[in-house]
Amino acid sequence: MSSVNTLGTAVVTGASSGLGAVYADRLASRGHDLILVARRVERLGVLAKSLAEKYGVAVRAIAADLSVPEDVSRVATELETNPSITMLVNNAGVSTLAPVLDTTKDKVDAMDKVNVTALTELTYAVLPQFKQRNHGAIINIASVLSLHILPISTVYSATKGYVMNFTRGLQQELADTGITVQLVLPASTATELWDLSGVPLAQLDQATVMSAQDCVDAALAGLDQGELVTLPSVEDKTLWEQFDTARLALFAGGRSGKPASRYGLKNT
Ligand SMILES: NC(=O)c1ccc[n+]([C@@H]2O[C@H](COP(=O)([O-])OP(=O)(O)OC[C@H]3O[C@@H](n4cnc5c(N)ncnc54)[C@H](OP(=O)(O)O)[C@@H]3O)[C@@H](O)[C@H]2O)c1
Repeated sequence: MSSVNTLGTAVVTGASSGLGAVYADRLASRGHDLILVARRVERLGVLAKSLAEKYGVAVRAIAADLSVPEDVSRVATELETNPSITMLVNNAGVSTLAPVLDTTKDKVDAMDKVNVTALTELTYAVLPQFKQRNHGAIINIASVLSLHILPISTVYSATKGYVMNFTRGLQQELADTGITVQLVLPASTATELWDLSGVPLAQLDQATVMSAQDCVDAALAGLDQGELVTLPSVEDKTLWEQFDTARLALFAGGRSGKPASRYGLKNT
């Protein structure tokens, strides 16, 4: 007779490599059952089998291309209807690092659909049952490029800026509930993402690159500590606080109701 897993099931998107595969390992080691989502189903199958054997949890794979609306809907239906789900890790992501006019429409679409649309739809799908139970966790993987833009990261930074703002908004909406929403902003991490992005990992200053294992372990430690915003590689936590204080001051500064004096306009 199978027993109920009190930790519930964690859904990890993009679990076929990189950060997602490490999340799957660490969440299984904590005792979560898992649903793993990605396109490369053979990889998911191998991972599912090994995690089930290693940790004695139930692991299922869903093959889905999150740039395809029908596939997103299939995963969304699982999130809406499976009452065992207690955690969603919105990790799947793609990156093309190139100037805008060197980024084909297909590449822009992929970033938009996977990084933005799928993340939003999957969050919408799981939220009603979390709200009903007043319990659950959503981990959204953004990037330090949510905060920063390079000449080759225009579209990617825009999509990750969305993830940051969407997640920060949700945190405010859900502040008085039992639902945890964590924003994770990794910096350069050694995964397949780089070679796929057009900037080979080998070209980076290796001293600036974190391992996927360290990144996920730090992010989960941040989750355990109740951090809403986790920057796994940033030593000085006050940098985020200074950034957030400046953001609030800028917002407040915009509420003057009149043009700034530097424009030389007469106040009406
Ligand atoms: N690596 C870094 O330096 C870094 C830094 C900041 C943020 N991040 C973010 O971290 C997250 C994980 O990326 P990673 O670095 O671990 O890269 P990765 O190893 O390339 O993993 C990306 C994952 O996303 C999945 N994915 C991509 N397109 C998909 C699609 N259309 N449908 C379904 N799944 C799809 C991939 O699976 P399939 O190919 O099998 O579908 C893969 O499992 C991403 O959101 C990324 O933007 C990474």
